[in-house]
Amino acid sequence: MYLLPLLLLLASITSQTPIHAPSILDHVNPLIGSYGTTPNGNGGMIPSVSPPFAMTRWTPQTRENFISQVPYGDSDRLLHGFQATHQPAIWMGEAGSVVLMPGVGTVRPLFEDRGLAFRKEEERSTPYVYEVRLDSTPRLGQDWNATAEAVGDGEVPGGAGAVPGDVEAGANGRASLTADAHVGHLRFDFDTAAVSSPWVFVQATRRNWTGEVRIDHERQEVSGYNPERQDYRLGPDKAPSFKGYFVARFSQPFESYGTAVGNETVHGSSHAHDNFTGAYVAFAPSTTRVEVRVGVSYISVEQARTNLEIEIPDRQTFETTVHRVKSAWLEKLDRVHIEGVNGTDPDHDPRKIFYTGLFHALQYPNDFSEPLPSGDRVFYSGYTDRVHHAPRGEGYYQSWSIWDTYRAEHSLLTLFAPERVNNMMRSLLQIFDWSGWLPMWANLVETNIMIATNADVVLANALTRGFRDFNVSKAWDAVSKDAFTPPDRDTELLYYDREPDTPYEARAGLTAYAEQGWVSNDRWAESGSRTLDYAFNDFACAVVGTYYANASAHDLATLNARSKNYAHLWNNQTQFMHARNANGSWAADPSWGWTEGDDWVYTFDVMHDVPGLAKLFGGRSALRDRLDVHFHQGHNEHSNEPSHHVPYLYSVLGWPARAAETIRAIAWENYNATSGGLSGNEDLGQMSAWYVFSALGFYPVNPASDEYVVGSPFFEKVEIRWPDGVASGGRSTGQDGKLVITAPGAPTKPYVRSLKVDGREVTKPVLNHGEIVRARKIEFAMSETPTSWGVY
Ligand SMILES: *[C@@H]1O[C@H](CO)[C@@H](O)[C@H](O)[C@H]1NC(C)=O
Ligand SMILES: *[C@@H]1O[C@H](CO)[C@@H](O)[C@H](O)[C@H]1NC(C)=O
Ligand SMILES: *[C@@H]1O[C@H](CO)[C@@H](O)[C@H](O)[C@H]1NC(C)=O
Ligand SMILES: *[C@@H]1O[C@H](CO)[C@@H](O)[C@H](O)[C@H]1NC(C)=O
Ligand SMILES: *[C@@H]1O[C@H](CO)[C@@H](O)[C@H](O)[C@H]1NC(C)=O
Ligand SMILES: *[C@@H]1O[C@H](CO)[C@@H](O)[C@H](O)[C@H]1NC(C)=O
Ligand SMILES: *[C@@H]1O[C@H](CO)[C@@H](O)[C@H](O)[C@H]1NC(C)=O
Ligand SMILES: *[C@@H]1O[C@H](CO)[C@@H](O)[C@H](O)[C@H]1NC(C)=O
Ligand SMILES: *[C@@H]1O[C@H](CO)[C@@H](O)[C@H](O)[C@H]1NC(C)=O
Ligand SMILES: *[C@@H]1O[C@H](CO)[C@@H](O)[C@H](O)[C@H]1NC(C)=O
Repeated sequence: MYLLPLLLLLASITSQTPIHAPSILDHVNPLIGSYGTTPNGNGGMIPSVSPPFAMTRWTPQTRENFISQVPYGDSDRLLHGFQATHQPAIWMGEAGSVVLMPGVGTVRPLFEDRGLAFRKEEERSTPYVYEVRLDSTPRLGQDWNATAEAVGDGEVPGGAGAVPGDVEAGANGRASLTADAHVGHLRFDFDTAAVSSPWVFVQATRRNWTGEVRIDHERQEVSGYNPERQDYRLGPDKAPSFKGYFVARFSQPFESYGTAVGNETVHGSSHAHDNFTGAYVAFAPSTTRVEVRVGVSYISVEQARTNLEIEIPDRQTFETTVHRVKSAWLEKLDRVHIEGVNGTDPDHDPRKIFYTGLFHALQYPNDFSEPLPSGDRVFYSGYTDRVHHAPRGEGYYQSWSIWDTYRAEHSLLTLFAPERVNNMMRSLLQIFDWSGWLPMWANLVETNIMIATNADVVLANALTRGFRDFNVSKAWDAVSKDAFTPPDRDTELLYYDREPDTPYEARAGLTAYAEQGWVSNDRWAESGSRTLDYAFNDFACAVVGTYYANASAHDLATLNARSKNYAHLWNNQTQFMHARNANGSWAADPSWGWTEGDDWVYTFDVMHDVPGLAKLFGGRSALRDRLDVHFHQGHNEHSNEPSHHVPYLYSVLGWPARAAETIRAIAWENYNATSGGLSGNEDLGQMSAWYVFSALGFYPVNPASDEYVVGSPFFEKVEIRWPDGVASGGRSTGQDGKLVITAPGAPTKPYVRSLKVDGREVTKPVLNHGEIVRARKIEFAMSETPTSWGVY
């Protein structure tokens, strides 16, 4: 254990507890979801360090990320930098990032030249610090594709000037990374015996992007900006003056420095404004440790410096930053204590899956606001392309992956981050004010990725859970615009997925949907999924309307009637949902018209009216039989979101025992505690939100209502200390709530035999939100064999 000397060293230089003092965070493995051979078979997660909901996450960089590739892969064996990433998910583009990489000897600016081998078995990843031991021998010409074997053998493809040598013998540097919300704190240790002229390279922009770097040797700073926004072609907002700014302040004086354009370095130059640019600073040969704090900002270099000085001021030690970030995560995750788990197989340790799931789920939407010395906050909006002042303490939330997260992630946020929910809703309405529409998939700005206006559901979700500190009149304006106003050029564009240069997509095909009850498949892309989602969105809009006194009764009646439009897609001959053409005929191919799914899964896409769906089948047992076929024949695809609520339909229909078996099987097959432990993209917490809810024993099948459907709790006992405000719509009451969920024998007994909430028998497999957050005790009695509980 090489970490031991480090621990001892820290203990001697700080009065604080060692950075790796045991805590609940030991159950978090940020590498979960970081392995995958294809973009779809990848969690898209990275071993990032940041506090919850931070604007910027810092990550080791083993790959050059782009849309469909994140900056780190668990199978990679070369490290090429430490990156301040703003890529929230694998299918989104990076924006305005900065990368730092240490090295020795000749400065190597290019990604493909600067990779250093690292010792995988000594890599340490936690939510609050990432540590790695590096080989100082450059691996010229290698990229992330290098295999472990190649590195281990010392083979250096294309390695002009490289010294072959095995990793064991060569490891002679160490890098550690921690980060506050807008500032990275990096520490590079160089082993003098092996080393000459340590340097740090700061990459501002990649190929084809023009950025700036400036070196101030008196302040020991490198500053600059990067305007890159990889998904700039998507959506209507171009955010023309967008830039990611940075100020990197070093602990050691520069012995020399220079700038780089591509692979060309200009020694002694202190400024570059160019395509593909960066800067390097080099230190005296005897230097053994360099620390650097890197403030980042979307506003300006000055603001990046302000962020640095406020969040990690000059005298703050690396250990202090680690402690602050660790405390921020403990404040969230140490609220849950679990006993009685399936404990034998470490690769399936459910505590690791659960806590890592919470860690993933409490990162987005993220707060783009930046602090001022006055205590006010400011933020850049890509919608207005301007900087805005926020009232004291107010954040501004961005990164909305709503087609994914409306399902369970937002319900989870109302439970574990209630203090942020009203502010998140205000941010949604702010976006509506600026752009005229609620977001669909807003990265820096709207990308129009995926379909439908599921922000309607997110607002209904907050309202039904008691969150009202936002303008409900405006919420109604926003959702009723979604429901009644087709997007621009609706009858002209196809609105296919990721179509470039489109206006706000909102409900593409609404022109036809409003007239005939479905989106015509011979006219718009993804018509089947749109029709089903719009029916649910209509239901959610009507829910929002019930919270606004002046919503017109006529509109509410229209919305409630339209919420049954799913039935237009019911093909009674095939007993499947089927996309339809404008003239009412069925799409020639039943596989047409679906968004990341097929007619099997979309046939169950009626979250708000399961009895109505059952009626189409001719009764609930017929729908149950279809679910059996669906699962037994392998049609369920839990790796993508449309399948997430499906196993819980058994409970709604009156067969909770089948739900229990199915949920457990899905959890076992799609989640584990290894780096490959997410079968699909995490999608800003939705994959994990499914697991966290399922482990607790209930899931929000209809997230526009306050109901959760009971499944099968995984643990014998869970004690939760809810955050203040959970039962009061996010308003502080001065105290945390406390709930104990018990389910004796749960790890080996999947079936619910009985359920009590504070002593009251619950006979239907449904709990509502208010009941859960106010209860002190939820008691499940479990059974090894199927029971008749919840059967009707
Ligand atoms: C990775 O390596 C394999 C085998 O050497 C090669 O065929 C493939 O093209 C490489 N891929 C990339 C992205 O470099
Ligand atoms: C940027 O530089 C690269 C090579 O370094 C070159 O291929 C590319 O054309 C340049 N792009 C622009 C926009 O100048
Ligand atoms: C950079 O631009 C050049 C010339 O337009 C193009 O061929 C190349 O693919 C671009 N490279 C990247 C990495 O975008
Ligand atoms: C970059 O320049 C260095 C030194 O001149 C050279 O060894 C290396 O091969 C170059 N890298 C590439 C990718 O051209
Ligand atoms: C709430 O929104 C409505 C528009 O629906 C607007 O007229 C009103 O001024 C807003 N109220 C506040 C307090 O901002
Ligand atoms: C509803 O409309 C009436 C009449 O226009 C108005 O006086 C009242 O303030 C409105 N109420 C709300 C909650 O907007
Ligand atoms: C209905 O529309 C489909 C698709 O556009 C077309 O193939 C079919 O011929 C039409 N049927 C009638 C009766 O017009
Ligand atoms: C489907 O067809 C069956 C058998 O013809 C009929 O009894 C039922 O009413 C039909 N259901 C619907 C929704 O049209
Ligand atoms: C973990 O899950 C991944 C993805 O589902 C799977 O490929 C891998 O085999 C699983 N590992 C274990 C130990 O179950
Ligand atoms: C416990 O482990 C078994 C396999 O040993 C698995 O089938 C079962 O689903 C697990 N139960 C839970 C609650 O994780």
